[in-house]
This record gives sequence, structure tokens and C-alpha cells, in this order.
Amino acid sequence: MNREILFPTPIYFKMVKDPKKLNKYLYPLIKAWSKKDESETKTNSGGGWHSPTDMNFKKEYQPLTDELFVMQEEIYKDYGMQPKPGLGNMWANINYPGSYNKQHIHPNSQWSGVYYVKVPKNSGRLFVEDPRPGPNIILPKRLKNLPKALWRVVVYPAVEGQMIMFPAWVSHGVEINESKEKEEKGWRVSVSFNFIQVNEEGKVE
Ligand SMILES: [Fe+2]
Repeated sequence: MNREILFPTPIYFKMVKDPKKLNKYLYPLIKAWSKKDESETKTNSGGGWHSPTDMNFKKEYQPLTDELFVMQEEIYKDYGMQPKPGLGNMWANINYPGSYNKQHIHPNSQWSGVYYVKVPKNSGRLFVEDPRPGPNIILPKRLKNLPKALWRVVVYPAVEGQMIMFPAWVSHGVEINESKEKEEKGWRVSVSFNFIQVNEEGKVE
């Protein structure tokens, strides 16, 4: 028989050029920011620190936003989008031991994602869920060891220096940080963002 796979849900991931150098630069900046600004209350209802969402306008984070744009432009090519992406907002997260991010989507965006700055052992993986309503209503009994494309939930270990991007409508969350490390050694630090679509002049139409 023949088979076609329709309506795919792409999850893209890629390492930045020089992860060690970039994270060594980013971590002290984010740590200092977390001491200065109080946490926003958004996707971090599991207890972490969530920075204000204007990180994309802060010059000091340009080395990271440059990397994000390179990857997002590759996605535009792969997914057939045009003319170009704009960064809608961006923020830093610190998940202290015991904190997590409950399941959510990112409304009014095209592509959402995360970049990992600091990932202690067992500090929580990203999980994404099948975004289609149908398969979440009808749950057939199935064989074990199915190919990943047929799973209902897929978990991605956090990797320092890695960017992950997915459609903003994909429901996702972060597991609890179970690091046994003391103080800041146990902090899981990441940066999240939402890309929108803009015209040639960089404006939203
Ligand atoms: Fe998210």
C-alpha cells in the first residue's frame, strides 16, 4: 500500500557556533538581571524566575539573537515562509531546584523556542505533546517501541548551547528541576522567545 504523511509538526534543533563562549558570556548577565528585576508571572507558574519580555531589545544579548535569526531564517526556507521573521519577544528563565514550567502554548506567534545557557544534571527536560485534538481523544491500544513520529509525548533533554524551535501552537512544558546541586550550581538557565512574521520593512502587516 501507499502512505502519505500530512500536516507535519516540525521540531527544529541546532547548536550555536561557539556554545561555551556564548554561555560564559550570557550566564553572568542573566544572573545579575535576576537580582535586579522581579519575576514576571507567565509560563513559570512552577516557581522559577521569568525576566521581563523585552530581552530582544537589549543590546548585550545581540550575540544570542543573531544566532536565533540565522536558525529562524533556515526554518523559513525549510517551511516555505516569506518574506522574513521578526523577534516578537524574548525572555530569560531561571528554574531553581524544585521549579518547572507547566504545559502551555504561545499565542499570537509563529515559532517559539528555547536556548539553553546552563543545564545541571536532572534539571528538567522539555516535553512536547501531539498538538492534534483527535489523537488526544481516541487513544488506541498500540504496540510498544513505536517510531517517534507516532508518540503522543516526546521529551528532549536540554543541551547547553542548543536552540530548539517549534510552531507556537505546539503544547509544551518543562519537567521539574530535580538537580541535587547546591545554590546556583543547581540553577537551570534558558532563554525563551517568540518569532512573528514581518514584511520587508520589518513591520507587522
Ligand atoms: Fe513555552
